[in-house]
Amino acid sequence: MLIDGHGRIIDYVRLAVTDRCNLRCFYCMPEEGIDFVQRKELLSYEEIIRVVTLLSEEGVSKVRITGGEPFLRKDIMSLLRSISELPLIDKIAITTNGTLTEKHLDELVVLGIDSFNLSIDSIDAQRFQEITRRDSFETVWSCYKVMLAKGLELKLNCVVMANRNIADLIPMVELGRKSKVSIRFIEEMPFNGEGSHYQRLEWDYAKILSHLTEHFGEVEKLQDTQGSTSLNYRVPGFTGSFGIIPAYTRSFCGSCNRLRLTPDGTIKTCLYDDGVFNIKNIIRAGATDAELMLAIKEAIAHKAKDGFVAEQSRNGKGIVSESMATIGG
Ligand code: 5AD
Ligand code: SF4
Repeated sequence: MLIDGHGRIIDYVRLAVTDRCNLRCFYCMPEEGIDFVQRKELLSYEEIIRVVTLLSEEGVSKVRITGGEPFLRKDIMSLLRSISELPLIDKIAITTNGTLTEKHLDELVVLGIDSFNLSIDSIDAQRFQEITRRDSFETVWSCYKVMLAKGLELKLNCVVMANRNIADLIPMVELGRKSKVSIRFIEEMPFNGEGSHYQRLEWDYAKILSHLTEHFGEVEKLQDTQGSTSLNYRVPGFTGSFGIIPAYTRSFCGSCNRLRLTPDGTIKTCLYDDGVFNIKNIIRAGATDAELMLAIKEAIAHKAKDGFVAEQSRNGKGIVSESMATIGG
């Protein structure tokens, strides 16, 4: 088992398979001038499978595929097929923006991949376009409808932003009145590829919750699953639920069970750290499986207690300058 220096079991790996995206959500990437990772710097599928296999032999049983937009990476389905064949991985989930996903859903279900987080920050076409700087709402909405119709395990990720999508909060919770969907409101984090762009987070966890309870009245608190980053609720009588992810307030670090691998092979033991080491470099220098595992275990042993400690120990002394598309959320 992989256990960190604070006694937490690491059984979940998040793989950001590409930093490229066909949307330009302003909180994630600048409009132009982004330095994407060169193809030869990407961890290859073979390398990814090697790392995930090793991790699975040490107790990692859940994989999330994220990005950038994972379906932009060439032949991503071949990677997903290979991961689905790993005997010790029992859950594969995907975070996607839904622009290129729909046509793969049938095969994904056959592979046993039926858990999706769909990023959708507004259900109003105009606001969606203002946030993503692209005109893709109809495509994403169609993907949502198909996912629902197929009965997939579906969560909608909505980053809550002052002056941008507050008018969506109530209509998005309303989606769950009759549909089995969970809407997750995420506190905005300063990962927009340009360094921090706000001084203080206005729409934090508490404000989101009080905004919703003012409208819906008492809401039921649901039991959160182990390692969950969201605090989950249900409006009485609704089929679906909603959750709030205090991504900036960071009250969930105590039960963190995850490890991250970025597109270029950087291992991150915390969303807020600036990368612990690059596994691709040691793979390409000829490391044995035992050496790779040793390096990973060493990194996990030093995993920061929480996101505040990780942020403070960054080289730039806490200034986050990368885009979420390189980290994988
Ligand atoms: N703050 C909060 N969430 C973010 N995401 C991307 N950038 C940010 C940010 N700055 C979310 C996306 C996606 C997930 C991978 O991370 O909306 O759903
Ligand atoms: Fe793309 Fe997701 Fe970043 Fe938006 S938040 S630009 S969909 S990677």
